[in-house]
Formats: sequence, structure tokens, C-alpha cells
Amino acid sequence: MSRQPAEKTNSASQAAPLPEGPLTLRSWLRHLGNTDRLAAIDEPVALEHTLAAVAKRLDGERAVLFRRPGGHAVPVVSGFMSRRAWIAEAMGVPEAGLLERMRSAAAQPLPVSEVAQGEAACQQVIHLDKVDLHKLLPIPTHSEHDNGPYITAGLAIARNPRTGVQNVSIHRIQVHAADRMAILLLPRHLDAFYRAAEECGEALPIAIVIGVDPLTMLASQAITPIDYDELEIAGALHGAPLEVIKCRTSDVRVPANAEIVIEGRLLPGEREMEGPFGEFPKYYSSAEPREVIQVDAVTHRHRPIYHTIVPAEMEHLLLGAIPREATLLAHLQRSHPGVQDVHLSVGGVCRYHLYVKLDKKREGEAKNVILSAFGAHYDIKQVVVVDTDVDVHDPAEVEWAVATRFQADQDLVVIAGAQGSVLDPSTTVAANLAGIDNPEPHLQGICAKMGLDATRPVKYAAHVFTRVRIPGESTIDLQALVSVDPSQWEAYLGEGA
Ligand SMILES: Cc1cc2nc3c(=O)[nH]c(=O)nc-3n(C[C@H](O)[C@H](O)[C@H](O)COP(=O)(O)O)c2cc1C
Repeated sequence: MSRQPAEKTNSASQAAPLPEGPLTLRSWLRHLGNTDRLAAIDEPVALEHTLAAVAKRLDGERAVLFRRPGGHAVPVVSGFMSRRAWIAEAMGVPEAGLLERMRSAAAQPLPVSEVAQGEAACQQVIHLDKVDLHKLLPIPTHSEHDNGPYITAGLAIARNPRTGVQNVSIHRIQVHAADRMAILLLPRHLDAFYRAAEECGEALPIAIVIGVDPLTMLASQAITPIDYDELEIAGALHGAPLEVIKCRTSDVRVPANAEIVIEGRLLPGEREMEGPFGEFPKYYSSAEPREVIQVDAVTHRHRPIYHTIVPAEMEHLLLGAIPREATLLAHLQRSHPGVQDVHLSVGGVCRYHLYVKLDKKREGEAKNVILSAFGAHYDIKQVVVVDTDVDVHDPAEVEWAVATRFQADQDLVVIAGAQGSVLDPSTTVAANLAGIDNPEPHLQGICAKMGLDATRPVKYAAHVFTRVRIPGESTIDLQALVSVDPSQWEAYLGEGA
């Protein structure tokens, strides 16, 4: 059975080894270029829609560098981590080792190392006065109904106002004006920091870091307890402490090697309309009042490169999927040692649908695994548990298991009224059906969870569940046996009909 086409397998050449030394955005792009995986575009393609359309067409095939986007002097790159195999390559592990590498980095973070002022590439050029984001940066407008240009690949870094420990996360950020932006804060760590500052009537200093290497991008998505600096996970993924520099206008520390840093403050008590914006479930979020960032400074390298992520495409989806899978696997294995692998399917937007491979030893175990998975992350909406002979990375295999090992009257688990993803439009429908038109935040994202136990019984009569196999199918040396030379078959078919 073949893999789901949306997640492309790695056919591109990877003859060139990864460059020696620390992985940077530039060394990674050079590596992609040397292995026929980087396209360059010299045409000044429009920042509104066309740039994203081109990047979308190339997504998963090649990263793309727009050298003069919209005629802007700063180039834009997109799609440099849009295959699992590429991400594994950047980590220096086989694809099957991705989750273990991510998990061990999260378990053994490396403290950052601070470089002296004047030594950080990201502060080679400093703009402190009259910052105009529109002039300084080529910020694309991505989807048809997006309400203007959005920063989509910025690492938001802030310090917990109570403890001083940093947090790193990615947020969609709408650029409203030359020095003002609105940000979507879902209820996680940055949101908690902001609320703590706002309660005291204070602004929260924040840095938006654009243009970092794939490992630092990935680390930003680690699912950790609060007060766990993801830059330390980035260090562990690199195998060396990540070099950071203090911002020019705050105490926030940012990766010294980054291309661009926007320094600012999340303002207390201020909200501005943000959206609509085309999100990862491939639908638009509506316009709502959101928290506001006042920009104080922009620093960057000489000749910086701007990174944009095309929403809902593979770079976006995989960035969320891999750290989540690593966390989900660790979480499930703590209580269920028979769990061997997990996969967030592309069809489930790499967030909502989880496939679990279980070496089931007792009846009922798969249902416990389903319940644990629902509790592991609120985004999980559907869980399918399969046996060890089923490839969880292949949706056709999982569907086959559901078709042949699942009976809805016995193997289905449904939990009504649970917390789900507020970006899942069907949760809004549920609210509407309940007579609530514009649900307040605490009523958003209510969803039903569905679990499917698609495992065989532990004991079954011989042959009932024996998978059809042809002896030799996987071991025969086809190259030695098969010829495609026409002379081999022409003589048998002759000339006529
Ligand atoms: C491309 C991309 C865009 C994202 N946009 C948002 C967003 O707008 N708001 C948000 O709260 N989370 C967003 N996320 C998810 C968070 O960055 C992610 O859940 C992160 O791990 C949260 O960090 P925390 O658990 O340390 O708070 C985005 C993730 C990616 C990869």
C-alpha cells in the first residue's frame, strides 16, 4: 500500500553530506541547494498571494528563495522543512529515529550560551527609531481572504514575569501598521505570561525572531511544562549550547545567529481586530479582538533572509506534528508500555487524528490508550489504535485495519462535550446548534472525541485474522529476475492484433 500522497516521500538526491559545524539557516539552505532541493526565483513575484502560491506549488519538492519578492531587497525563503525525511536529515537521524531524538532533546536540554554585545549576527544592523515594518521587511499576504500581511514563521520569545524563565512559540501575527501588530495567543505559556503582566498593568517584552535553522524552529514546538526554555531544547538538538544575545530594548535573549529580530512589547489592556486568516485546518479564523504588540526596534544581519511559512502546507503541519508525536508517544508509553509508535495523519491536519501502534496483551487495553491520548493534548479529536503489523504512517493501512478489525457497536469510544481545537470549524457548528451564535472564548472549541479500537482480539481462531501474504513477496530479487528489454517480449507478441 502506498503512502498518502500529500506527505511526499524523499526522492530528491541527498548525496552531499550535511556541512560540518553548527547547523544554521544558511548552511541548511546551502545543503538543500547542493542536493537539488532549493529553487531560486529572480522575478519580483508579488508579496500578495503570488509568493505563497509559488511556495505552495513547490511545497515538499523544493524550498524556494524569492530573491526580489515584490521588488523588495530582502529575500524570502519558504518550505525548507516540508518533509519528515528532511527534518530527520537536519537532526542527523534516520526518519524512524525522529521522535526518539526529539524526546531525548526535550528530556536533556542544554543551557544557552550568551555571546557578548557586538558579536551577534542578528544585531549587525540595528533600527531603533521610526521603525517601519512594511519598509524593512517583505511580509507576504498568503491566502485569499487574509486580512493583510502576516508574519507566520516568527519565534515569539518572552520571559515569565514571575520567574524570568523564557518561552518560545510560533504565533500568527498580523502587521497592522508600521510599528503595531496583533497576535493570536491560544491559552498556553505566552498567553499565561501576558496575563500575569497585564494583571499588574504592565507590558510584556517580546521578541519575534525570523530566520532560524530547522532544529530551532522544531524546538519551539516542543510540548513542555511552563518555565521550560525551548532554546535549551534547540541546544540539545544541535548537540551544543545555542548562542543567544540580549535584545537591545529588553532582557529577552534571542538566537544570536537569527536573520531578523523584531523587539517590542505586548501592551496591557489593548486589543485590536485581527483576521480573518487562513489557518492550518485549511479554513479561515474569523476577525476577533487580539493582543497588540508595539514594535520598539528591528535588528538584523547584513543582507538578511526573511522566512515565511505558507499556512496549512507541509512545513506548517510537520512543525506541529513531530514535537507533538514525540510528546504523545512518551506520554502514552508511561502508562502503556505496549505502545510502539504514533502518527498524526496529514488528513487530520497533523493535529486532530492520531494513529497508535499497540502491542496489545489484554482486552480493553486499546480503549485505555484511547482515553490517555484524549487527555494528552486537547487538539486530539480522533484516535485509531492498531496492531503492530499495521504501518501507522500509511493511512491506507490504518483504514484497512478499521475496515477489518473494528465493529462500531463494541470498539467505538465517544466522549461528548470535551475541549477541542478552537480552530476546528465544526466546533463552532456544535455551539450554534446549542443556540450560541458567537460563543465567548470559554465556550469555544467544545468537541466530541472519537476513539476506534481497530485491534484484533488477543486470542482468535487460526486464520481468521491471518493477513494474506505470498511467500517471497518481499525477499525476491526483482532486478535479477525481471527484464524490460523489448526484445524479451516482442518475439512472443508478434506484429499483428
Ligand atoms: C506555523 C505555526 C503557527 C502557529 N500559530 C499559532 C498561533 O497563532 N497562536 C498560538 O497560540 N499557537 C500557534 N502555534 C502553535 C504554538 O506555537 C505551539 O503550540 C507552541 O508549542 C506553544 O508553545 P508553549 O506550549 O510553550 O506555549 C503555531 C505553530 C506553528 C508551527
